[in-house]
Amino acid sequence: MNAKNTDFGTFAQDVMLGLNSTPKTLPSKYFYDAKGDKLFQKIMALPEYYLTRKEYDVLEGQHEQILAEILALDKTFNLVELGAGDGMKTKILLRYLAKMEVEFTYFPVDFSGSVLEELEESLSFEFPALEVKPIQDTYRESLKKQVWENGKPNLILFLGANLGNFGADEAKNIIDHLRVGTKKGDFVLIGFDLKKDPQVILNAYHDKQGVTREFNLNLLDRINRELDADFDRESFSHWPTYDPVSGECRSYLVSQKSQEVTIGALNQTFEFEEFESIFTEISKKYSLSEISHLASLGGFEVKENFMDSEGYFADVLWVKK
Ligand SMILES: C[S@@+](CC[C@H](N)C(=O)[O-])C[C@H]1O[C@@H](n2cnc3c(N)ncnc32)[C@H](O)[C@@H]1O
Repeated sequence: MNAKNTDFGTFAQDVMLGLNSTPKTLPSKYFYDAKGDKLFQKIMALPEYYLTRKEYDVLEGQHEQILAEILALDKTFNLVELGAGDGMKTKILLRYLAKMEVEFTYFPVDFSGSVLEELEESLSFEFPALEVKPIQDTYRESLKKQVWENGKPNLILFLGANLGNFGADEAKNIIDHLRVGTKKGDFVLIGFDLKKDPQVILNAYHDKQGVTREFNLNLLDRINRELDADFDRESFSHWPTYDPVSGECRSYLVSQKSQEVTIGALNQTFEFEEFESIFTEISKKYSLSEISHLASLGGFEVKENFMDSEGYFADVLWVKK
């Protein structure tokens, strides 16, 4: 496939809108340039970042049960994955499907062209016979376009707690896109990080090695690089918070001094007061009752909640009614 970089105009426009709003914000989807992709892979291997390990355990231990429903149809199908990333956990499912000699097409959707290129290359190495059709697009746009729709049943994967990167209202909006973007009998498998001891959650976003800090600051480096800006990264600190009521873990970059930042591509200078923050990411944690509520909003029936032994993470299987 021909990977295109993030559209310069959209990136510039989103940065302009975010830094002109009060409080200042930057959209988390821009974390994932080539350096951000690598940093996220390091985050997934951190001892504090339990999410990847727990979801890996769920998929490794229960993939047969997870795939039993779609395989029971005994038909070829589309395996669509929203925000596929490096496909590390998806490969557990792909290996089982390959072993069972199941016929299906894999449609990894990701906003990042570089991540899709790497994924395609690693898949062609491990699964040379697999039909892969990468789609470089956003979750919402891909669900609107449904380029995979060919009348076959769909299993839509939305792993890695990606839905948690949206606040409550936006998550409902994504579920609404899933409602419109699926037909009766289609399955979705969504990963949710569950509410748990707040300290365990906070540690996952404040690791001792400082990789999450680097990941957050890379957003400023990226703006410097791509939009000709002069952010002094050392004058911003990484600050995660967790609210156990809303389940929202939020990451901020806090300006340690009063300063001005110029973004050449926008021809604009932004003022920061001392300790003014930029909100960069939300990672919402869910209870099982909130998850069931989302299923009903999307017109889905809950088939099963697959969880790890500590109840940290759930991959929930829904079917469209
Ligand atoms: C946190 S990673 C998770 C990857 C993988 N699903 C996993 O569980 O390991 C999120 C991935 O989703 C992609 N992504 C983030 N926001 C997106 C959006 N709005 N539309 C499409 N892809 C997005 C990123 O490029 C990244 O590869």
